[in-house]
Order: sequence, then C-alpha cells, then structure tokens
Amino acid sequence: MEYKNILFKVDEGIAIITFNRPKALNAMNSETMAELLDAATLCKKDDNIKVLILTGSGDKAFVAGADIAQMQNITVAEGLKFMELGHETLRMIETMPKPSIAAVNGFALGGGTEISLACDMRFAAENAVFGQPEILIGIIPGWGGTQRLPRLVGMGIAKELILGGGQINAQRAYEIGLVNKVFPPASLMEETKKFAKKLAFLPAFAVKMAKYSINYGYDLALDNANRLEMECCAQCFSTQDQKEGMKAFIEKRKPTYTGK
Ligand code: CAA
Repeated sequence: MEYKNILFKVDEGIAIITFNRPKALNAMNSETMAELLDAATLCKKDDNIKVLILTGSGDKAFVAGADIAQMQNITVAEGLKFMELGHETLRMIETMPKPSIAAVNGFALGGGTEISLACDMRFAAENAVFGQPEILIGIIPGWGGTQRLPRLVGMGIAKELILGGGQINAQRAYEIGLVNKVFPPASLMEETKKFAKKLAFLPAFAVKMAKYSINYGYDLALDNANRLEMECCAQCFSTQDQKEGMKAFIEKRKPTYTGK
C-alpha cells in the first residue's frame, strides 16, 4: 500500500509510524486509519521489527481526533464502518506480540487519546493535551475510549473526562496514570527511541509472553488469570534466550539474545 497520510520507517528493529496531516492536526480520516492498519500489520508480521512507536508530525499535535469534516454528514451504517475500522486497527496494535509506545507530541484528543490507549505505553511531551471531547460535538468515543480509559485510570476519572469532555495537560495525565513518562518536547522522540532500544534487545519470546499474559489475563477471574501466567512463564523455558539469559547471569556477563 502506498502511504499518503502517514510516514513509516524502520531503524534497528524499531518501527516509527508518524501521522502526517499536520494542517488538520493529524486528524484521522478513514484513509489514514486504513494506512495505520496496513503499516501496523507489517510491524506485527515482521520478526525483525521489535518495537512500534506511534507519533505525530509537526510540533502541535499527535492526533486531534477522528476527522470531523469527514464524519459530519455520515449515516449510521457509515459511522459503524468507521468505528469498526478503528477498533480493528487498535485491537491489533494492542494485542500484537511486541511492545508499542505512543510518543504524544501535542494534542491527543478523542481518537488521538484512544490511539494512545491502545499502545502499551504513553510517553508525552510537556505540551501534550489529552481528552475525550466527543460529547461536545454530539457523539461519544468510538475507538475504545469508553472501555480502555476506565480500565487504565478508573471509572470516576474516565467518566469525568468522557461525560465532561474536558482536556487535561501532560502533568495531570501523568498523575492519573494515563501517561508513563513526561519529557520536554525537544527530547520526547530521543527518549522514546532510547527506551524502545532497550525493549528491542530483550528476549522477544519473553516480551511476547509478558504482554500476552497481561492482556488476556486482565479480564479473567484471578485463578484463571494466574493459571494463564503460569503457562506463559513455563513456555519461556522452551527458548534458547531463557538458557542464555540465566547462563549469562550465573557467569556474570551480559546476555546475547537471538530471539530464539
Ligand atoms: N477533524 C478535522 N479537522 C480538524 C480536527 C479534527 N478532529 N482537529 C483540528 N482540525 C483542523 C481544523 O479544522 C483546522 O483546519 P483549518 O485550518 O482548515 O480550519 C486545523 O486542524 C487547525 O485546527 P484549529 O484551528 O482548531 O487549531 P487550534 O489550535 O485553534 O485548536 C484543537 C486545536 C483544540 C485541537 C481544535 O482543533 C479541536 O478542538 N479539534 C477537535 C478535537 C476533537 O473534537 N476531537 C474529537 C473528534 S471526534 C472523535 O475522535 C471520534 C472518535 O472517538 C473516534
């Protein structure tokens, strides 16, 4: 697929997808979402890609939401199709067997907050702004905001943001656990890449099992979730990386992982 609305590059096992419609503050129309789905699917399938970073071009926005101009006059059926495309894309990112980080470099409103919520971690620039303002224009979040936000920050704060439609800055987002780390705007990408590099060097199967256990255990009853964790942990003993990791520890040297 040829990309018109995103930039996609891979460097040393780290894929960076940049939303690239700065004049519309990187608002997501259906074409952009389809490109994200395509690029993220490539990341999922390519064993050489270890980590995915999502960010926005320009210095003002990550993603200012779903494209309001495109949505203004759509029908219920078209709305459902657009929401399904978003959900398919974001669930795929959320469950892909490798970590993803949203590097939030400005406005992340509506669908922008929702895209970041589907990533495993959110690193924000000090000027980042989060919120679910859909209610202010007569709809509600449609790409997972009503589900992922309460799971991350709790029901009360999620309801404040979704029912009230207000915006919060990076510091507040950090305080409520929506954001993992906050950096000065100029160092956001550098710091995000530094962390991504650390993740990229880890034993890939263990990373995959950790994410799997968290994702699929979260909504289970504790006994079932613990059982899932035991199985996932046990599977790690099938890998060469586990042998190497423990051997290197005993021999007091740095491990060399091969992803096998
Ligand atoms: N859709 C389409 N265009 C958008 C957009 C959006 N979500 N957000 C910004 N733009 C466009 C503006 O229309 C404007 O275009 P023009 O220059 O052609 O007029 C350009 O981007 C710059 O925006 P502003 O002039 O508004 O910039 P600002 O600095 O004054 O304000 C802002 C910035 C607070 C982010 C404001 O643009 C804004 O409120 N945007 C909309 C945010 C929003 O409501 N997002 C939720 C969308 S619904 C959704 O996401 C549904 C879902 O859950 C899937």
